[in-house]
Amino acid sequence: MKLMFLGAPGAGKGTQAEIIADKYSIPTISTGAILREAMAAGTEMGVKAKSYCEAGKLVPDDVVIGIIKDRLAKDDCKGGFILDGFPRTVPQAEALDAMGIEMDHVISIEVDDESIVERMSGRRLCGKCGASYHTVYIPTKVAGICDKCGGELITRADDKPEVVKDRLATYHSQTEPLKDYYAAKGKLALVKGTDTIDAITAKISAVIDGI
Ligand code: AP5
Repeated sequence: MKLMFLGAPGAGKGTQAEIIADKYSIPTISTGAILREAMAAGTEMGVKAKSYCEAGKLVPDDVVIGIIKDRLAKDDCKGGFILDGFPRTVPQAEALDAMGIEMDHVISIEVDDESIVERMSGRRLCGKCGASYHTVYIPTKVAGICDKCGGELITRADDKPEVVKDRLATYHSQTEPLKDYYAAKGKLALVKGTDTIDAITAKISAVIDGI
């Protein structure tokens, strides 16, 4: 089962990927998460990626294509995977094609820009395990503390309103054209992303199960 989640920053790709990965027992591959880990560890790749991520720009194609090639070669991807945040440009999609990887479903989670800005301002992440919350929609039991591991919640550097504006512009100009790319291959399904998390999971599951 090879799935791809497309959608604007904050559309809910990571939230749904976590749930669907659990349900179908396949790993999620998030280029954003891999880049954040590299930035936190201060690796050469992390140092290179930092200025792009913090400005709301895309990291160069060759860097993320290299990340994906290495990750997909790992054993846990043999039974399938979810791509969350990759590809983000047509050259990245072409690189995936050149690797001989054909997706079963490409699901675009559709959320308008206004709702995105509101969501991003409330997003909080666990600084320890990376679990994602929202101050209003997915609050933790104890304010500021992760329910899963007790770690402290942080706000992502690229969730500042001015950076979110740039990320949205980047999404519309460079990533949204991928909807046409996968529609032409007959793989694209659009899912409304402004319902409850459970309702969106049900719609994504229906696409996967062919209901
Ligand atoms: P990345 O981490 O991939 O960021 P993104 O695509 O901008 O997506 P987000 O993680 O911000 O949002 P999401 O859609 O996963 O939403 P979430 O589920 O968290 O990338 C970061 C950066 O890395 C990029 O800007 C770029 O620089 C670089 N990068 C990554 N991949 C790259 C690539 N392939 N090429 C080049 N550069 C790359 O939800 C958001 C919030 O809403 C959360 O608080 C959540 O709790 C809440 N929420 C979720 N669903 C709902 C709902 N239904 N109702 C209410 N609230 C909800």
